[in-house]
Amino acid sequence: MDKPQCVVILDFGAQYTQLIARRVRECGVYSVVLPYSTDFEDIQKEEPRGLILSGGPSCILATDAPRCDERVFSMGVPILGICYGMQLTAQVQGGQAGACDLREYGRVLMTVDQRDTGLMAGLDEQSYCWMSHTYQVLRLPKGFTSIAHTDNCPIAAMANESRRIYGVQFHPEVTHTEQGRLILDNFLKRICDFKGDWNMEAYAEMTVRKIREQVGDGTVLLGLSGGVDSAVAAALLYRAIGERLTCVYVDHGFMRSGESDQVVEVFTKTFPVQLIHVDASEQFFADLQGITEPEEKRKIIGRDFVDVFKREATKLGKRDHFAQGTIYPDVIESGNTKGSAVIKSHHNVGGLPVELGFASLVEPLRMLFKDEVRKLGLTLGLPESLVYRQPFPGPGLAIRVIGELTPDKVRIVRESDKILRDEIACSDLNGKISQYFTVLTGARSVGVMGDERTYAYAVAIRAVTTDDFMTADVAQIPYSLLNHIAGRIVGEVKGVNRVLYDITTKPPASIEWE
Ligand code: XMP
Repeated sequence: MDKPQCVVILDFGAQYTQLIARRVRECGVYSVVLPYSTDFEDIQKEEPRGLILSGGPSCILATDAPRCDERVFSMGVPILGICYGMQLTAQVQGGQAGACDLREYGRVLMTVDQRDTGLMAGLDEQSYCWMSHTYQVLRLPKGFTSIAHTDNCPIAAMANESRRIYGVQFHPEVTHTEQGRLILDNFLKRICDFKGDWNMEAYAEMTVRKIREQVGDGTVLLGLSGGVDSAVAAALLYRAIGERLTCVYVDHGFMRSGESDQVVEVFTKTFPVQLIHVDASEQFFADLQGITEPEEKRKIIGRDFVDVFKREATKLGKRDHFAQGTIYPDVIESGNTKGSAVIKSHHNVGGLPVELGFASLVEPLRMLFKDEVRKLGLTLGLPESLVYRQPFPGPGLAIRVIGELTPDKVRIVRESDKILRDEIACSDLNGKISQYFTVLTGARSVGVMGDERTYAYAVAIRAVTTDDFMTADVAQIPYSLLNHIAGRIVGEVKGVNRVLYDITTKPPASIEWE
């Protein structure tokens, strides 16, 4: 496949740079994000059809304010400066940027002054945009006109149509800018003349090529966690290097019903990789004996996971590279956005790549958001039931058993969780609840079943709706369905005589019980 035509996004340290890249992908265009300080020759090598200069936290007036090589402005390709990128563009082109009288933060009503052609073609006369700035363009460079304004920002967007250089003071990449998507689409398709036919299949092709370049004829080891990300990474690597990929799946014994079987099935049949399936549940249970404190459980599980993985990797003998399914939110969470390797902690494998002396780390999903990873997974042929799995904590059902763990208690959460999942799946609520599961509360109480007295466990149902999992609302499951689910759980899961419904939002509660 030929190298796809791209837009280069020069990153000035904005929070939102990868979001810009994502929006560009949504417009069907391929982008390359480069640090602002990239050598001009390296920018040229990408043969960009357009350039986007991102925002950034710096003050445009500071003597050490970040600047890109000014030759980019004479490359003859269209340029869109966003926030700091607009201020820099104005300054370099002979205009002036400086402090504004009134800073603007948040949703601001914008009036578009030129809507017939160019960047703002087809926009409403007024719409809300998202502003976050202390500085702005005060005087336009020669050849530029103002094409939008707000109450406090007379030059909210600027254009030099003949040179195809544009700037916007607001952030078109965030959803709070109502027509931001249209602005980016105009820039990419009307101004840069992209067709917009870039898609996940193209992403897969390109990533496959990059993996081949990185790995050469070497071998790769990948730890499958049972989750979506590592599965998609494995499918991609399989496409790139086939049997030179070995996957190790450490089953800690705390997976949901049917999940381990599905992982093994998919990665032996659909993607016939070399798969080492290690059932290490005995070791995990043994090491967790008597442990009731949730953080301690997590630590032991993390440590055992690394131990088992390391043992298996050593048994396998030398593999050249190590792969993992790090995705963009993981990179952000770890505060590492500037290139060096991030090893996802927890159910992945800590400092292992370094310890085991791998030549390099392969992270083909590093720039993707979760929903893009899911799309890619479907493109690669992974089943929907795997790709659309609910989020699941690394230590699995172990933290959904409150108190000491036993195989029997894990059975209770697994069986009750399966009933809940099956019932939601065939109800109207399918796809409408962000996360739902059962918890073994640890409380036991008296009940009657038939004519017998019982003294058995209470299981709680947790079901939430949320966008980002940072806050969550309680899902509104109708009582009739809850009654039905409770009846099935008490009737079918041995050891349970009571079912509760958790009606606490997050905060103050968390989503998981631990
Ligand atoms: P909490 O309980 O903190 O959970 O409200 C927020 C979201 O994170 C998931 N979660 C985890 N995900 N590894 C993960 O990959 C973990 O150790 C972990 N612990 C919690 C949880 O299921 C919820 O979606």
